[in-house]
Amino acid sequence: MILQNHMKKTPKPLIVGNWKLTPNTLNEAKERYLGIVKVYKKFKSVIDAVVCPPATFISSLKKKDVAIGTQNVSFWTTGSKTGEISASMVKSCGATYSIVGHSERRAMGETDEVVAEKVAEVVKCGMIAVVCVGEAERDEEGNYLEIIKSQIKKSLGRVSKQEVHKVIVAYEPVWAIGRTDNVAITSHDLHQMAIFIRKYLKEVFGIAGDLIRIIYGGSVTAENAFDLYLNGGVSGFLPGRSSWEAETFKGVFSATAEAVKELKKRSRQVTKVKPPRRK
Ligand code: PGA
Repeated sequence: MILQNHMKKTPKPLIVGNWKLTPNTLNEAKERYLGIVKVYKKFKSVIDAVVCPPATFISSLKKKDVAIGTQNVSFWTTGSKTGEISASMVKSCGATYSIVGHSERRAMGETDEVVAEKVAEVVKCGMIAVVCVGEAERDEEGNYLEIIKSQIKKSLGRVSKQEVHKVIVAYEPVWAIGRTDNVAITSHDLHQMAIFIRKYLKEVFGIAGDLIRIIYGGSVTAENAFDLYLNGGVSGFLPGRSSWEAETFKGVFSATAEAVKELKKRSRQVTKVKPPRRK
């Protein structure tokens, strides 16, 4: 059932590359972007791709098939707020997505309430908000599930049922991000979490909750993307480091595309099995 729902709601997986504080120069950013656009060509029909460079580079990248997002927006919208960059500013430079509430920003003091304001502003500006949630650690008692619930409830607190299609939930357990051993969550645990999040989204938004895509981030690589997509019950990924080189990003595209193929094959097999007809 989960498998069929997953296919129905996400005709194309979404892969959002988070460039974080890289690269150092505009020239490198241009080169990286064009490299990614080139490798993406082959996957265009099966995958939606976005990259989120540092905001300074957004206006100078000549927008191609890979959409551009920003990694953060200001809580404020205008006025005397030195150093801030608003959602409408990045939107006017060509960004169509914004990551909001990444754990690296939450670690700098961003609260759920601040995240909620930012999400509302991103949506109001006509961009898609990629809202990050994730527990710092997992405890035996399952308290981390309450943390996820609370983050979702508060961070999406200003999103209406009519706006849910403009929001994506990125499940990013903090313990899986940036690991030097590149070990991500297991697809089994991810599937459990995807079911849990989906159920909660429906509790909060009713059937509209079904429209919110759930993606996963945290040490996604070419090696684990196939299994995570095939068995993890998510609609895409938010890779960090794997999106910093065209070749490694290509690996994630390719593994995801393989998983899509496999899921399609399986769903065809499921639909072929029809109950015997009575005479
Ligand atoms: P990572 O980062 O893929 O390098 O672990 C993911 C993220 O922080 O969004």
